[in-house]
Amino acid sequence: MTPFGLPPKTATGIRSGEPAPRAGGSATNEPRSRVKAPVGQLDTGPRETPTADLNPRARLERYEAAFAELDPPFAFVDLDAMWSNSADMLRRARGKPIRIASKSLRCRGLVQMIFGHEQGYRGQLCFTLPEALWLAEKGLDDLLVAYPTTDRAALRHLAALTAQTPNGAPIVMVDSIEHLELIEAAVGKVIAAPLRVCLDFDASFWLAGNRLKIGPKRTPVHTAGQARRLTTAIAARRSLKLVAMMCYEGHIAGRGDDAPGRPIRNALTRRMQDASYAELRERRAAAVAEVSAITPLELVNAGGTGDLERVASEPAITEATAGSGFYAPTLFDNYTTFALQPAAIFAQPVSRRPGPGIVTALGGGYLASGAGAKNRMPDPYLPQGLRLDPMEGAGEVQTPLLGAAADCLRVGDKVYFRHAKAGELCERFDRLYLIEGARIVDELPTYRGEGKTFL
Ligand SMILES: Cc1ncc(COP(=O)(O)O)c(C=O)c1O
Repeated sequence: MTPFGLPPKTATGIRSGEPAPRAGGSATNEPRSRVKAPVGQLDTGPRETPTADLNPRARLERYEAAFAELDPPFAFVDLDAMWSNSADMLRRARGKPIRIASKSLRCRGLVQMIFGHEQGYRGQLCFTLPEALWLAEKGLDDLLVAYPTTDRAALRHLAALTAQTPNGAPIVMVDSIEHLELIEAAVGKVIAAPLRVCLDFDASFWLAGNRLKIGPKRTPVHTAGQARRLTTAIAARRSLKLVAMMCYEGHIAGRGDDAPGRPIRNALTRRMQDASYAELRERRAAAVAEVSAITPLELVNAGGTGDLERVASEPAITEATAGSGFYAPTLFDNYTTFALQPAAIFAQPVSRRPGPGIVTALGGGYLASGAGAKNRMPDPYLPQGLRLDPMEGAGEVQTPLLGAAADCLRVGDKVYFRHAKAGELCERFDRLYLIEGARIVDELPTYRGEGKTFL
């Protein structure tokens, strides 16, 4: 039973009878590798995680062997690395179920493979309602849409689906009366079964007499009293039913505290995160209590790849979210509490050699969203010893690469890059090759490959 006295939801997110795809074989017989020492009292779990031999030189050899016959550009997932990351996230979550952030994978088959491989995951945190409706159509359940929708046609579609499965249809996010009114205007005030909604509670940290607000600027619901008032407003509407709460602390989960060469910034980040988390833990527990007194909740969701161990220790939270940790993009390299293995990689060909110490790769300018900064650029990962040209960065059709390693590369050779963020990579490629060891074991369409570009 959940802390709210309701039966737990499905563990897999896949309806019974739906087979989960599997790549040929599994990542076994893996040597062990180091996991970073945990900070403070956060982590009491095992200190080691099984993983393949994933040092850069061995990786390059494996990738060159696996893709000898394939011409770049292409993208792939190193399953040995991904399962190692998955095991580490499950260890850090210490038994608290993890909802998979679909935006950070954008590959339906891979998500289903993860559900089939591991017990600790439940459902998906979707990024748009059309996406959730599509996944439902494909047989997936336990779908929570993390960001409010204004898509009236999709809401009407959801109302029809909810009429068929009143307790299992996707849940949509709300944070204001405006959202409730928009939904009602789209679907009507009296419908066959009420739409299932989730209340988004603000995690941001307020300082300097509330003048400085650190954290995601999303929902205006910041206090337990505001959560209670919105709950009451939802309860007064026959077309809506509040079944969940979510509270995402992006300034803690999504911000590394161990950037190389930045000791002062790192120390300040850690102080801010510890102080914010201490405040948030109490505040959101109070809000969950207020809301639960009015309506029973099926789930309370929080966290992300970066702070699973914190959320694991929080009784008011029934489940965590993680997504980026599977692919381990570069923005997740610099945390004191964990070390992930790069798992999602893309390859571009060397197309020309302008001179000594420089080669030019075709394409590669796949910048990540967010505040425009150098850390949003892709990283030339293998062979080691390449860097972007600060004057040109990663280009729309050409990316100059500087460094000693350039002189060892010939036209037609592959350069392997890492993206700064996770799922956005899949908007650039229609399929992901899956490799184990030095072998391609499968290929899966990305969302783009399935003709789906939700955002
Ligand atoms: C609502 C919400 N929850 C959780 C996450 C964490 O996802 P990830 O593990 O991919 O960082 C995010 C990421 O942006 C998010 O927006």
